[in-house]
Amino acid sequence: MKKILFLDQSGKPGGAELCLIDIAKPYRDRALVGLFADGSFRNLLQQNQIPTRVFSTQPISVHKASDLVQGIKSFQQIAPLINQVIRTAREYDLIYANTQKALVVGALASFFSRRPLVYHLHDILSQEHFSQTNLRIAVTLANRLASLVIANSQASKTAFIQAGGRQDIIEVVYNGFEAKNYQTHESEIRKLRQELELENKFVIGHFSRLAPWKGQHILITALAQCPPQVTAILVGDALFGEQDYVKQLHQQVAELGLENRVKFLGFRSDIPQLMAACNLVAHTSTSAEPFGRVIVEAMLCGRPVVAAKAGGAIELVEHGINGFLVTPTQPQELAKVITTCLQETQTTATIASNARISASQRFDVATINQQIAKLLDCKIKTSYVSTNQPIP
Ligand code: UDP
Ligand code: GLC
Repeated sequence: MKKILFLDQSGKPGGAELCLIDIAKPYRDRALVGLFADGSFRNLLQQNQIPTRVFSTQPISVHKASDLVQGIKSFQQIAPLINQVIRTAREYDLIYANTQKALVVGALASFFSRRPLVYHLHDILSQEHFSQTNLRIAVTLANRLASLVIANSQASKTAFIQAGGRQDIIEVVYNGFEAKNYQTHESEIRKLRQELELENKFVIGHFSRLAPWKGQHILITALAQCPPQVTAILVGDALFGEQDYVKQLHQQVAELGLENRVKFLGFRSDIPQLMAACNLVAHTSTSAEPFGRVIVEAMLCGRPVVAAKAGGAIELVEHGINGFLVTPTQPQELAKVITTCLQETQTTATIASNARISASQRFDVATINQQIAKLLDCKIKTSYVSTNQPIP
């Protein structure tokens, strides 16, 4: 097994970071996860006995919409970080970049340390999500320096190729999940519903960081069009400074008089239990979701899921078979599906049960990890052969 240096820019546990925990775990006795910021993600890695190091505690001020000038300025800012990563990379066989900023740093480290580079692409590289400059940087670095790009869905792969990415280096690997972590005892569900004062309610759960493109506002609008026993829990926090959006959400709830029907629970680590306490899980992203971990997690909890029909969600959900799909940004359509689920409990339960069975097979973490191991093995060998270096 190879020694891997994983890189991730975030100190906070977004979906890409939670996915990385599962990927790094099998390598933990010979891997290091290098972070560019400290935070609760590091604690999670440590709880999983995965070695970590924070390479820089200075926030990197390049954003998804940054232009070239800002890019150059931030490059000066990250020079010491790059130095540290290059030195560390020499002790490893492979660099595995899990985010876009990690790709930039990892690509330079790969070049100077002559270590192969893998880029795990968790994003849809389109102008809907990124500036033209960021797109160009990501695609150029991946094309020139990565031996392998792992896309988290077909949708992410397609966007990469459309943005000019090389077709011959990209493979799709879905996120993996341990199905047994998503089983919750009936008594625990009852207790949780009691604590949250959700007894006798039809509970819709929304599990996402609070961010405009995650579309919590769409669910709130839809809720106002549903029968009064329909209640929503919004689970998640503004991880990346979206405080204005949080304010807007609270305002919207007040304006619609929904204070008794919407609960903001903040960031939680008991997602399987909370999902099990719901009657329906809603995914409402307004832009195409690259993959959508919450959709699979709801399925594994045996709860019906309604998702916004775009991006990776279309690969996960077949309408009427293992969930429901609605047009993004259409609260009326969403309200209709919610009301149908409320009325047709038997059909909905069958759909949720089908979903649980198929999701536990399709997204089994052990199988997914084998897929990744095979790709890494094959790509590392190829890469060393092509640079005429001895295979370690
Ligand atoms: N999540 C969590 N606590 C919360 C809200 C969300 O642990 O309070 C988890 C959720 O279970 C999922 C991940 O965060 O595994 C979000 O991943 P997803 O792919 O759905 O979206 P992302 O935020 O990465 O775009
Ligand atoms: C990113 C994407 C999300 C995906 C996750 C794991 O955070 O936004 O859609 O599920 O990565 O791949």
